[in-house]
Amino acid sequence: MKKIKYSEITPEKIYKKRRDFVKKLGLSAGSMFIGQNLINPAFASNDNLENKITEYRYITTYNNYYEFGTKKNDPVEKSQNFKTKPWNITIDGEVKKKITLTAEEIKNIFPIEERIYKLRCVEGWSMIIPWLGFSLSKLLEKAAPTSKAKFVKFTSIYDPEQMPGQRYPILKWPYIEGLRIDEAMHPLTTLVTGLYGKELPNQNGAPLRLIVPWKYGFKSTKVIVNIKLVEKMPTSSWMRASPKEYGFYSNVNPRVDHPRWSQASERVIGSGIISERIPTTMFNGYGDEVAHLYSEMDLKKNF
Ligand code: MTE
Repeated sequence: MKKIKYSEITPEKIYKKRRDFVKKLGLSAGSMFIGQNLINPAFASNDNLENKITEYRYITTYNNYYEFGTKKNDPVEKSQNFKTKPWNITIDGEVKKKITLTAEEIKNIFPIEERIYKLRCVEGWSMIIPWLGFSLSKLLEKAAPTSKAKFVKFTSIYDPEQMPGQRYPILKWPYIEGLRIDEAMHPLTTLVTGLYGKELPNQNGAPLRLIVPWKYGFKSTKVIVNIKLVEKMPTSSWMRASPKEYGFYSNVNPRVDHPRWSQASERVIGSGIISERIPTTMFNGYGDEVAHLYSEMDLKKNF
C-alpha cells in the first residue's frame, strides 16, 4: 500500500472527509461538529459555491493585511506571533447597553455556522471561502442600539509593536471601516471566528473579523476591537487615503470602474497557472438579498 506522506493530507481532504461524515450522519448539509460545538446549517450556504471552494493554502497565503505589510505573503510570514489572547471587543456609542466580551465568550454565546461566501477584492480577484461565524445583528441587538444609531464604525487594533506595517503611514492607523445600520443588521453581514472548520488564522484577521459578502473585500475589517454605533457616517481608512477611489458604500459593481482599472471581471485565485477570469456580478452575486437596501440610490454617485 502506498504510504501517504503527511504533506499529502491537505486541509481540503480532512475538511471534505468531515463534511461527508456529517452528511452520512443524516445531519442537514452544512452541519459540522467543530470541537464541542455543532455547527448549524450554513445560512445561504450556497451549493453552487460549495463545489468551488478555494484551497486552504491560497486563502491563508495570499492576503491583504496592511498592518503586516503590503505584499501578499507578508501577512502569513509576519503575523504568526501576533497575540490574539486575551482579546476584548467592546460595543458602545449609541447603545442602551454598552458591552465588552472576550473573543472566547463570543464563540460560546453565539451559535457558530459555516457560511460559504465569495470574497471579491477591489484589486480584481476573488476566492470562495468557507467561513465560520454568525450574523453581526445578533451581537448588535444585545447592545440595544438607540434611535440615533444610523451607522456602525469598526475599529481594528492599533499595536505597532506587533504590527510592523503600522510603523509606516500607508494608511491612517488604526484601520477603520463603516456600514450603514441597515447594512450592519443585514443577516449576511457576518462576524467571523474561523474558516475551513478551524480557528481563524492570524493572517485572515484573528480572532474576530467582519465579512460583508456583497461589498469589496476591504470593507471586511480584520482584527476588530471596537464596534461603535454612531449618528454620522464614519470616514474609513480607505476613504481618507483616496476619496476619489474608495467610497463609503463600495458595493461590488461591475458597471462602476475603479478610476485606475475595470471592475467588469475578476481573477479566480487558485484556478490554475493561468488564472481563470470570470465576469463580476452585481453585489457579488448577493443582489436578491441586498439590492433593496439601495433602491433609492444612484450607485454611481454612491460608489
Ligand atoms: N482589515 C485590516 N484590519 N487591514 C487590512 O489591510 N485588508 C482588507 C480586508 N480587511 C485589510 C482588512 C482587504 S483589501 C481584503 S481584500 C480582505 O481583508 C482580505 O481578506 P483575506 O486576507 O482574509 O482574504
